[in-house]
Amino acid sequence: MRIICVAGARPNYMKIKPVMDALENQGAEVFLVHTGQHYDPAMNDVFFQDLGLRPPDRFLGVGSGSHATQTGRVMTAFEPLVDELAPDAVVVVGDVNSTLACALVTAKAGPLLAHVEAGLRSRDWSMPEEVNRVATDRVSDYLLAPSHDAADNLRAEGYHDDQIHVVGNVMIDTLFANLERAERSDVLGRLGYETGAYGLVTLHRPANVDDPEVLAGLLKGLGEVAAHCPLVLPVHPRAAEKLNALGVPDGIRLVPPAGYLDFIALQAGARIVLTDSGGVQEETTALGVPCVTLRDNTERPITVDQGTNVLAGRDPARIVATALRILADPPPPRRPELWDGRAGERIARVLLDGGTAAKRPRPTDHR
Ligand code: UD1
Ligand code: UDP
Repeated sequence: MRIICVAGARPNYMKIKPVMDALENQGAEVFLVHTGQHYDPAMNDVFFQDLGLRPPDRFLGVGSGSHATQTGRVMTAFEPLVDELAPDAVVVVGDVNSTLACALVTAKAGPLLAHVEAGLRSRDWSMPEEVNRVATDRVSDYLLAPSHDAADNLRAEGYHDDQIHVVGNVMIDTLFANLERAERSDVLGRLGYETGAYGLVTLHRPANVDDPEVLAGLLKGLGEVAAHCPLVLPVHPRAAEKLNALGVPDGIRLVPPAGYLDFIALQAGARIVLTDSGGVQEETTALGVPCVTLRDNTERPITVDQGTNVLAGRDPARIVATALRILADPPPPRRPELWDGRAGERIARVLLDGGTAAKRPRPTDHR
């Protein structure tokens, strides 16, 4: 089977790697297509090095732009590639613009489409990622769900069981595969932190960082938390300008975006993590580190029900109250089912055993 695997932005690399490895181990011919949505060395190159991800077979170089510009550029560049490579299947991961763009092209071009991380729903339509998730699932043949709650969402939307495969969480495959190497990172020493004596923050959701008033409120809350536990914040490029313009309260230290191994080490050593990232909610649960999510909702409720995550929203007072409660009384570590490091293998088995059986009805099938 000839399979295109698509990646393009920071959270894609750790999701695609275990899928590619498993597909190749099970005999598939794999092409890695990089859309170029993220391109800074700290958002891109470092992950290829840290994860041992081989260089992409094709690079589309789309860069940044509005949603329509970016999605359109990926589609325009990806369509001729699908014609040229004539894959049997295309695998897309997650919920970024590159995911949706390649899904739409594939659905019309003919190969089977597999969506890794299918069924996650925040039910918040103001999130661009929610649009990407729902639309990608709709045109996918294989809905590869990380957990049973995601499969339940899909069933509730009318998808049939023969399309839904609960395969586990690929991000956790990569976490477990790299944990020992991350433990050898010297990042804590370089930054001057002791294990368990600092908190880690990430912020990049448009709803949190695009509006300076909202961001200022978050920083106010984080500043009060920092009075109890110093905070380090690796800055996503989307937030850089606004954070620099606003300035940060004492006790919060801005650093450049961290590489994967350093960032896992920072999470593993943290007393508390405060974040609006999707992946970080999952990694903290897998590591047993307390996580306060700076959002009103999550598409990953399993990290709350079966993990260490607490939703605190955006209100500064609630963030402070939640963080202080968690610092005083951290939640016990728990591990969700199927977060066992073998999701990539299960995905490869579904795709390679499935043949064309999972092909969703297309308009042409009804002619
Ligand atoms: C994207 C994803 C988001 C994901 C995040 C992971 C979409 C709609 N959003 O958000 O789901 O959580 O990646 O990090 O796909 N920029 C740089 N250098 C880079 C990349 C981006 O400077 O290498 C800056 C540019 O100013 C760009 C802005 O960041 O305009 C936003 O980048 P973009 O890829 O559009 O969205 P993210 O906010 O990164
Ligand atoms: N990450 C990283 N360095 C950072 C911030 C995050 O390596 O400075 C990793 C993190 O460990 C996780 C992934 O990036 O594996 C999450 O990506 P991000 O938060 O950008 O996107 P999201 O998951 O919200 O889509």
